[in-house]
Amino acid sequence: MSVRQRIDALCCELESNGDLTEPAWRAALHAVPRHLFVPDRAWAAPYDAKGYLIDREQDAEAWMDAAYADHPVITQLDDGVTDIATGDGYYTSSLSAPGVVVDFLELLRVYEGNRVLEIGTGTGWTAALLSHRAGEGNVVSVEIDKSVLDVAADNLARAGCKPRLVLGDGAAGFPDRAPFLDRVHVTCGVSQVPYAWVEQTRPGGIIVFPWMPGLEPGHKAVLTVGRDGVAIGRFSRRGASYMMLRDQRPPGGEYGSGHRESRATAEPRRILEAGAGLDVAIAGLMPGVSATAKQGDPFEVTLWSGQSAAHVSGAEVTQYGDRSLWDELEDVFFRWIEWGSPDRTRFGLTVTPEGQHVWLDQPDNVIR
Ligand SMILES: C[S@@+](CC[C@H](N)C(=O)[O-])C[C@H]1O[C@@H](n2cnc3c(N)ncnc32)[C@H](O)[C@@H]1O
Repeated sequence: MSVRQRIDALCCELESNGDLTEPAWRAALHAVPRHLFVPDRAWAAPYDAKGYLIDREQDAEAWMDAAYADHPVITQLDDGVTDIATGDGYYTSSLSAPGVVVDFLELLRVYEGNRVLEIGTGTGWTAALLSHRAGEGNVVSVEIDKSVLDVAADNLARAGCKPRLVLGDGAAGFPDRAPFLDRVHVTCGVSQVPYAWVEQTRPGGIIVFPWMPGLEPGHKAVLTVGRDGVAIGRFSRRGASYMMLRDQRPPGGEYGSGHRESRATAEPRRILEAGAGLDVAIAGLMPGVSATAKQGDPFEVTLWSGQSAAHVSGAEVTQYGDRSLWDELEDVFFRWIEWGSPDRTRFGLTVTPEGQHVWLDQPDNVIR
């Protein structure tokens, strides 16, 4: 199959999933072939199957298949400490999945000539797509990891694109172009939105990012900056999971030895699988809480935040630290039921110089 045929097939898949609707992005996908951004050795990470090593030298066809599949390709583990061939470690850089990338780009509503800041260059593929749409002189991409940025620069050169690449902490934005950014596209997970992004964006400008406050998957947030320097916007219909902004990675827990035992009132599985709307409510009402769930019999849940944690196995609840996180979670669940079980698109986020808050239906209905 030729590269052109592979890109056409990928575009058809993205169109049928609803990720790709605009011809301009179809043209960009053809202009900057994704395989130019795949390292010779990397870890393919399908959503519905086990990950596997792709090695161009060993199996060029499988490598090419992964380049044009709608799933992420992991390019770095543990900030480069762990060999990618193990696939075993904390994912720290990747070539994001085409569907998520394109859906985000459409949410960003980029016009030709827009001055765009990308945070998290990774392989450089998104920066290349943005350059094709907005014009390469208008795109700045910031990456925190020098080795990642060096590879991105090579990839972009091979693809014939020259956005401006900057080594630095994207949490600070890119003050050199402030306050004239039209668009900010963050391609790492964010729990707390740095106000610098809002401050550096012109009124009416758009900021999109994966909001990942602690429960997987995260949410695609689309904010517009107002004339008063406050950014307001809603969550899009579909979720997204990205690698976290480096200084917002969730801390590991250190809990005290004392604990309290009780039984869950509501079914833990019912709560954890209630959907993304409840996840947003939890993030709004219990900021800083992370959770993981493990399928099986018994169904298991772990919650943690600061010095507190809760572990639920079946209906047995064990809570550690000052906060009773499971009890708090049940309270949020019942409040969300009383609100009519709103889905994630009914929620939104406001970012001010003082911080951020989540609202339901309209910005003045802040959930507390
Ligand atoms: C999911 S990857 C980005 C994918 C990329 N946009 C692409 O098209 O391939 C996330 C990237 O964000 C980078 N990153 C994490 N924290 C950052 C920060 N504070 N500033 C800039 N880049 C950061 C990581 O090093 C990683 O390369």
